[in-house]
Amino acid sequence: MDAQSTATQHTAAGPDFNLLSPDTYVPGVPHEAFRTLRNTAPVSWQKDPESPGFWAITKHADVVTISRDPKTFSSHRRTAMLMELPPDSLAETQLFMINADPPRHTKLRALVNKGFTPRMVARLEPHVRDIANAVIDAVAQKGECDFVTEVAAELPLQVIAEMMGVPLADRRALFSWSNRMIGQDDPEYGTTEDEAKRASLEVYMYANQLAAERRRNPGEDLMSVLLNAEVDGEKLTEMEFDVFFVLLMIAGNETTRNLISGGMLALIDHPEQRARLLKDRSLINTAVDEMLRWVSPVMAFRRTATRDTEIRGQKIREGDKVLMFYPSANRDEEVFPEADRFDVGRTPNDHLAFGIGEHFCLGSNLARLEIRVMFEELLRRLPDIELAGPVARLRSNFINGIKHMPVKFTPKAA
Ligand code: HEM
Repeated sequence: MDAQSTATQHTAAGPDFNLLSPDTYVPGVPHEAFRTLRNTAPVSWQKDPESPGFWAITKHADVVTISRDPKTFSSHRRTAMLMELPPDSLAETQLFMINADPPRHTKLRALVNKGFTPRMVARLEPHVRDIANAVIDAVAQKGECDFVTEVAAELPLQVIAEMMGVPLADRRALFSWSNRMIGQDDPEYGTTEDEAKRASLEVYMYANQLAAERRRNPGEDLMSVLLNAEVDGEKLTEMEFDVFFVLLMIAGNETTRNLISGGMLALIDHPEQRARLLKDRSLINTAVDEMLRWVSPVMAFRRTATRDTEIRGQKIREGDKVLMFYPSANRDEEVFPEADRFDVGRTPNDHLAFGIGEHFCLGSNLARLEIRVMFEELLRRLPDIELAGPVARLRSNFINGIKHMPVKFTPKAA
């Protein structure tokens, strides 16, 4: 009997429920459906009108097992991305480090690891704090703003642009490219696949210009490092360089921005937790981790089985598509007592918002720093931020995102 026929044909929330449809996530992460899946079919075969279907992994322990076994669950075969790719884009997408398996992955990762160690990142703190304060200065007197575009987006954008040696003047272009590439499914950013393709071509061209400039004037930025780097005695090709640029830009921007917006919303929605944090600022580190668990900015990544295997007794066939749903793993009652309670003092908090194993988020130290510093400064300077209008969510099956969040607060001097 084949694996799929033994699987639960599960529809967690009615016959039209589709975990891959971007519409599913517009009202918010479907936590009820994930709970049902965790309790009744933790490894469930899901139909998808556009692909042969996939295994939805919803338990914490299974996400850990799969992420730690790249031999059996490959990021390379069909990439770590959720959707099926046509052969030409498959080959291009496979060049990204996030879509590589060991041993190549290990070598690519070594090229950029040094820039993201805790020590390197700690050195950035004073500068990150200056940027956070400049961002707050720009809105403080107004008493209201769009928290996403004016606050949450700015810090990650400026930090990653600087680390990559992108002139500050070009950072708006980065923001727009990154939105168009990620927001393919959202009408505000780009409605068609062509739009997203055009955005990636523009980014590649930009990356090539930047590379040419850095060859002439090498600096200490990550791009200069990558230009001189070698894998197996060979320099990166132009395309390999370009995709590194795109990976760092998107990964460094989209996720942290949405964590800051989603984290702020969590504090607004849980006034008693905000009051607790305001009273005891030493809770900031546990609060950051709880925001990561609660928001889980990345909805899912994919693996492809390289051999017949089993997860939780469920047979998985070679070639099967496996999706790990981080927001579900992060509400797993077996790991997190009162998982649906937002608790800024939660310890332990072994959330998987940054993944785990080979591909554990390269930027986790940087993201944690940005989030902590941003909230330290927000709590200090604008402690009474409240919603001033409806929250507009991103239509996406990949990023748990907020596009706009109108807020108001007591105006403060810049
Ligand atoms: C709250 C913020 C962030 C979240 C939630 C997040 C989440 C993740 C997750 C879940 C993975 C695992 C991918 C997998 O297993 O297939 C990952 C990988 C990665 N992240 Fe992040 N990320 C964040 C911030 C950042 C930042 C600031 C950077 C900065 C450059 C970054 C760069 C990367 C890269 C390059 C990878 C691929 C690592 C590899 O393939 O070895 N991320 N991230």
